[in-house]
Amino acid sequence: MNILVTGGAGFIGSHTVIALSEAGFTPIIVDDFSNSNHVVLRGIEKILGQKPRYYPDNCHDAEVLRRIFREKEIGGVIHFAAFKAVGESMREPLKYYANNIGSLIVLLETMLEFDIPNIIFSSSATVYGEPETLPVTEDSRIPPAESVYGNTKQIGEEIIRDTAAAGKPLKGISLRYFNPIGAHPSAYIGELPIGVPNNLVPFITQTAVGLRPALTVFGNNYPTPDGTCVRDFIHVMDLAEAHVAALKYLINHTAPTIYEVYNVGTGHGNSVMEIIQLFEAVSGQRLNYRIGERRAGDVAAVYADVSKIEQQLGWTAQRTLREALEDAWRWQQTLGIGN
Ligand code: WQD
Repeated sequence: MNILVTGGAGFIGSHTVIALSEAGFTPIIVDDFSNSNHVVLRGIEKILGQKPRYYPDNCHDAEVLRRIFREKEIGGVIHFAAFKAVGESMREPLKYYANNIGSLIVLLETMLEFDIPNIIFSSSATVYGEPETLPVTEDSRIPPAESVYGNTKQIGEEIIRDTAAAGKPLKGISLRYFNPIGAHPSAYIGELPIGVPNNLVPFITQTAVGLRPALTVFGNNYPTPDGTCVRDFIHVMDLAEAHVAALKYLINHTAPTIYEVYNVGTGHGNSVMEIIQLFEAVSGQRLNYRIGERRAGDVAAVYADVSKIEQQLGWTAQRTLREALEDAWRWQQTLGIGN
C-alpha cells in the first residue's frame, strides 16, 4: 500500500519512511525542503537499497495533492509537514497558522475528495502545557496553548476530531510526541537542525564536536529531583514505528469513521542533567556546559502514560535512552562540524 508522507524528508518523517518500508508499505514523500535537505534522500536510499519516491512540492497546494492522488493510489497519509520552532511561531503567528492549519485543511479536503480515509497527524506533548499530575494521560487537561506552535497542534487535533465527528468517512489518529531524539543506527539519517539547535540533544552533540562552545542548561532550580527539567525522551525509530502501528490499526478498523489520540513516549522521565551525564558516558568525553537562566515557556516536568497505546495498538518503546544517545552521537560524528 502506498502511504503519502508529508514532510517525509524531515527528522521524524525520514525515520518513519524507513519504518514504513520495513513493514512492507511503500512510502511516497512530499516535501518542499523548506526545513529539510536533499541529502536525507540519499541516506534513505543507502538504508533501503533503493531511491525513495518523492515529490519536491508543498502539500499546502491542493493541485499538488490532486496530482499525487491521481498518479499513485494512496491508502493513507502521515502528515508531518509543519513549522515547528516555538519562538518563531510567537513572532510570525500568521506564517504558522497559514502553514500548519492551512495545509491540514487542504489535505483533509483533498483526501475526502479522493476517498482516502486514513490520516495520522503529528501532534505534540506540548498540548498538555504544565501538567497538573504526572504521568499525563490522553485525558489530562488541555490548557490554553502557551505558544502559537502549540496552538496549531491543538487546533489540528480538533479539526480532525470534528471532521470525524461530523460523520465524514475519515479515520484519524493524532500522535502526541514527547521528546524524540537519536538517529537511525546506520547514521545515514538523523536530525539536521538549521542554524543553532533549539533542542537539547542536538545542542549537546554539536557542543561535543566543537561546533558550539558550551551548552547552557536552562535552569537548575525547578521542583524536580536534581533541579533540572524532566522530559520523556524517545528514540526516533521507536516513534517512527508507532506510526506504523497506528496506520495498521486504522487500516484494520472496519467502521468508516474513527478518531483517536495517543501519547507516544517511553513512560519514563529523565532530567537534563541525567542526559548530560549519560551522554558523557556514551561519548567518553566531558561536555562543556554551564547553568543558565530558565528558558521562557519551559515546564518543569512532563512524561507520558503510555498504557493506551500499549493496550490498543500493541506498541511500546523498544530502545533505551543509552541507545538513543549513542545513535545521536554516531550521527553527529558522521556530520562532523558541518552541522
Ligand atoms: C528539553 C529540555 C530545556 C536546550 C520542544 C517543543 C516541543 C517539541 C519538542 C517540536 C528543556 C533543556 C534545551 C538547551 C537546555 N517540538 N535545554 N539547554 O522544550 O521539551 O520541547 O521540542 O517540534 O513542542 O516545546 O525540548 O529539547 O528544547 O528541551 O537546558 O540548549 O532541555 O530547558 O528542559 P522541549 P527541548
